[in-house]
Amino acid sequence: MAGIVLSPSLLSADFSRLARELAALEEAGVSWVHWDVMDGRFVPNITMGPAVIAACRKESKLFFDVHLMIEKPGRFIEQFADAGADLICVHAEAETHLERTVSEIARLGARPAVALNPHTPLALVEYLLPQLHLVLIMSVNPGFGGQKFIPFCLDKTRRLKDMITARGAATLIEIDGGVTLKNGAALAAAGADILVSGSAFFAFPPYRQRHDAFMAAVS
Ligand code: DX5
Ligand code: ZN
Repeated sequence: MAGIVLSPSLLSADFSRLARELAALEEAGVSWVHWDVMDGRFVPNITMGPAVIAACRKESKLFFDVHLMIEKPGRFIEQFADAGADLICVHAEAETHLERTVSEIARLGARPAVALNPHTPLALVEYLLPQLHLVLIMSVNPGFGGQKFIPFCLDKTRRLKDMITARGAATLIEIDGGVTLKNGAALAAAGADILVSGSAFFAFPPYRQRHDAFMAAVS
């Protein structure tokens, strides 16, 4: 992938005007947008489901990066693929038969990804790397925006990069949680390809300037 991609997390956007937020992101030069789907079980919070994503799909050409923080996500993969998710990311901790779910995502035509909670070992995804478009490293405990980056996740990013290189895989690395203009450069140097940002992005309009500032900080 040429250069770092910023994937703004809609969790920090204005939910009452999602279509307009998506249009504003597109006008600002953003290419990816991050959807945080929460079920109130895997994480202690509830957000949106496939119906909201499907409705917004008609309004946007952005790459929909869908992060499922739900128990047994395999039950809902088809609904999210039909809703127009370009990438579907499931948590390793939430799925017993992870390979099956990853294969199913690919079969349905979306890009498969697996997320790991901060303390979850990288070994859980090692054998799946060739099948994964990306691995998402959670750098906060999932459930809420605006939390502080957990420092050991920088080392975890480096180790994942080494693992991907050693295996000769093309898997990308996405970092999610507590990403800022300050730690973005170190994350990029450690091997991150996609940076998710919620609170450090949406609280600082206009979006074009904020996107440019992020890009300048990480390149
Ligand atoms: C947290 C979500 C993140 C969140 C990031 O559970 O997965 O995507 O929106 O928000 P910030 O950038 O504010 O940490
Ligand atoms: Zn997320």
